[in-house]
Amino acid sequence: MSDSAKRNQPSRRQFLSGAAAAGAGAVTAAAAQAASPDPLITEVQEWASATGEGVDATPYGLPVRFENDVVRRNVEWLTADTISSINFTPIHALDGTITPQGCAFERHHSGAIELSKADYRLMINGLVDTPLVFTYADLERFPRENRVHFCECAANTGMEWAGAQLNGVQFTHGMIHNMEYSGVPLRTLLEEAGVQPEGKWVYVEGADASSNGRSIPIEKALDDVLVAFKANGEALRKEHGYPVRLVVPGWEGNMWVKWLRRVEVMDGPVESREETSKYTDTLADGTSRKWTWVMDAKSVITSPSPQAPITHGPGPLVITGLAWSGRGHVTGVDVSTDGGINWTPARLAAPGTDKALTRFYLDHDWDGGEMLLQARARDSSGYVQPTKAQLREVRGENSIYHNNCIQTWWINGKGEAENVEVS
Ligand code: MTE
Ligand code: CO
Repeated sequence: MSDSAKRNQPSRRQFLSGAAAAGAGAVTAAAAQAASPDPLITEVQEWASATGEGVDATPYGLPVRFENDVVRRNVEWLTADTISSINFTPIHALDGTITPQGCAFERHHSGAIELSKADYRLMINGLVDTPLVFTYADLERFPRENRVHFCECAANTGMEWAGAQLNGVQFTHGMIHNMEYSGVPLRTLLEEAGVQPEGKWVYVEGADASSNGRSIPIEKALDDVLVAFKANGEALRKEHGYPVRLVVPGWEGNMWVKWLRRVEVMDGPVESREETSKYTDTLADGTSRKWTWVMDAKSVITSPSPQAPITHGPGPLVITGLAWSGRGHVTGVDVSTDGGINWTPARLAAPGTDKALTRFYLDHDWDGGEMLLQARARDSSGYVQPTKAQLREVRGENSIYHNNCIQTWWINGKGEAENVEVS
């Protein structure tokens, strides 16, 4: 850095004390502090005048009450009841990439069931040399792997096809979570049973009433599918499939069978079941795309956004969001503040990893004016996230599933955000 450039940079000390308030870059309420002493600094506070809670007050901790609004939410009109329904991850309020289980979206077809480890059985049958039944304790004896992956429902952003509809990133993009799973590769269990040469597919089903049966090609089953029993270090929550769920990296959420109870090796997919009829995408001409399992690259700005408006004036503004791809890892994210005319590469908090969320930041100097904020992800296959217009050209407006288009937030001079479309 040259000397003159250095002089224009506020020092870290200036930044923190607010001494640089006159220039761009000040982040403290320096003027207010100078005018009247801040009692939060000058007075002994209540919380420092007495002791706090003892160590046994909360054997299993919950977030502090000030964070009570960081919760899953559903959209009441979306489904007839909450049993066969969905709620959404509050991604506007989270940072980093790992989704705490307690606020990770849920999608059930017949409600979340309670199934104990003692009552748990996993059967492998069909075109195998030896049909097998595993108890939970059996599964724990196989070599384990730890992997971080996102799970995105194919319906995520599904309400946005025809126009900007839901005013919050939690609702437009919150059918996604990203956890560190511990489990046994499905390959290990299939090898234990011995897949016969005619075995080309597996049919996987859960123990709940809906069973959520799905067919998966054997190549994927033998590749990176995990039979998982821990998420983010602890047991799966009931709503995420306790005690065992399937993790199908990069593929749509409906294949991630919860309360996994059976894997049948077959010579073809189960055609009559809903996965081949329901999970297709209707195109503009009325024809359908079939077996669209992989989740294409996608990104979204989580803050600022309608539920996370800018609450300060012009100057430093952290623009942040999430990017992911089911085809590999995120290689870059570009951010636009003018609706896609100019793009600036964002900073990835860490290099993108395979089929997992990537956090990005753009450390912006906001002039206080209106913005049309967009993010655009690129992945290791060379794919670039499309605009809404580009996606509609190919897929029309009749689709529900697999909407991975670029999202736009309109930010007004007050820092409030709204879900909009740009042409
Ligand atoms: N597995 C069973 N057994 N029952 C279900 O209803 N829903 C599927 C999938 N696995 C489902 C299931 C769908 S559509 C999705 S998107 C994911 O689970 C959601 O996983 P989550 O509830 O942990 O977010
Ligand atoms: Co789903």
